[in-house]
Amino acid sequence: MKSVKMYVNAAEKISHINPEIYGHFSEHLGRCIYNGIYVGEDSSIPNVNGVRKDIIDAFKKIKMPVLRWPGGCFADEYHWKNGIGDKSKRAKMVNTNWGGITEDNSFGTHEFFDLCEELGCEPYLAGNVGSGTVRELSEWIEYITFDGISPMADLRRKNGREKPWKLKYLGIGNENWGCGGNMRVEHYVDLYRQYQSFCKNYSGNELYKIACGPGGGGDMFYDWTDKLMKNINPSMAKAITLHQYTLPTNDWNHKGDAVKFDRNEYYDTIDHTLYMDTLIKNHVKIMDRYDPNGEISLIVDEWGLWFDVEEGTNPGFLYQKNTMRDAVVAAVNLNIFNTHSKRVSMANLAQAVNVLQAIILTEGEKMVLTPTYHVFDMFKGHQNGELVYSYADEVRTGDDRIPLLSKSVSVKDGVMTVTLANCSIDDDAEISCNIEGFDGADAEAVILTADDVHMGNDIDHPDDVVIKPFEVTKTDRGFSAVLPKCSVVTVTLR
Ligand code: AHR
Repeated sequence: MKSVKMYVNAAEKISHINPEIYGHFSEHLGRCIYNGIYVGEDSSIPNVNGVRKDIIDAFKKIKMPVLRWPGGCFADEYHWKNGIGDKSKRAKMVNTNWGGITEDNSFGTHEFFDLCEELGCEPYLAGNVGSGTVRELSEWIEYITFDGISPMADLRRKNGREKPWKLKYLGIGNENWGCGGNMRVEHYVDLYRQYQSFCKNYSGNELYKIACGPGGGGDMFYDWTDKLMKNINPSMAKAITLHQYTLPTNDWNHKGDAVKFDRNEYYDTIDHTLYMDTLIKNHVKIMDRYDPNGEISLIVDEWGLWFDVEEGTNPGFLYQKNTMRDAVVAAVNLNIFNTHSKRVSMANLAQAVNVLQAIILTEGEKMVLTPTYHVFDMFKGHQNGELVYSYADEVRTGDDRIPLLSKSVSVKDGVMTVTLANCSIDDDAEISCNIEGFDGADAEAVILTADDVHMGNDIDHPDDVVIKPFEVTKTDRGFSAVLPKCSVVTVTLR
């Protein structure tokens, strides 16, 4: 057992936690959209306009604030006009990035925007810069958002939608330094400036335009942030993106197995997850040079664990299982994003269903909520909260390789949400937390943990790792609790 002293000052408000920090990402990749979220209107699986009803309910429960679509790498080869109108006549396409499979475009603009409306979440569109045209993107915006008489608005009406949808978040390209065109930053910046000029605000809709930022650290990506920031301003872009995946091994050829890992690999995984904090700090430092008032924010629109694909599955489908290790990694990342919420306005886990660190896995009509899903459920109290000052002694674990505790604290409507992760698989953590500037007589808590870090939920064992009530002791000055090793805890004080 190791002891950690924690201190919270609720009077010291640091930043607003945008709900979009709890965002998700859905790409035409493997079984994320087709045979995942979307099963089609004729499926025997209960659905709303072809989208699984159980998935809609699960997304609503965690208050999914924003959903990014259609990619990823896929976005830069997506031509939206192939995905509208009579489904039986839609042009088919080859998904060259992900398994070379042929898609029938039955999930397109209407299906996506109707889904977001049903969920009550913000749609986040990734526009095609790599293989599209300025006109194609500009017409997509007109199709979605224009209320008057125009060629694209008329086409939308012809396809059955009278009123425009709302569209706030618009990404202009995706990983344009890589799958989105292998561009030099100089080239992308010029394209960005051009594309964004023709993405108009129609009928009272206001776009929040997002430029493609770096994909990690290192000279190339710090240079990308530097040159991008030098050549844009807040009237052209409200945010730039950062992509950062966590690999246990840091080796893209041998990423490691999702379920079979040893103690060493576990601690490496947490250590590599913590690099997110360094990355954000380093990129924000560069952003500050050009934008000291923080008018351009940072969006981590792809993050999560990336393992070797599950044996026997299509290598292009990126299907992997999910264990308590994933839960701890999710909690650590979300605490980091909260901590940086002054600059980080959104984050999107990759990906929502059946791909990478998914929150949901499906098999036929069955559906499973992963440990990562439960972490989003436990952290939802932070959405729209005010991050407040918190401090914890740096007690280390795993042969001193990582800090034992990950934490963040917010206050909203007189309720304090404290999210904690005991990142150790060796030591329980005795927490004693003193709180100032907040009157709360009651403390309630829930926990996500398992006897073994390798445990997760799968189709045959959907409830092995679930949220349970957890005992904390309310003290005069705050609370105390013993967090079992490898656990995620939310304490709610009111
Ligand atoms: O999430 C999988 C892929 O990872 C995305 O398509 C791409 O943007 C990134 O490289």
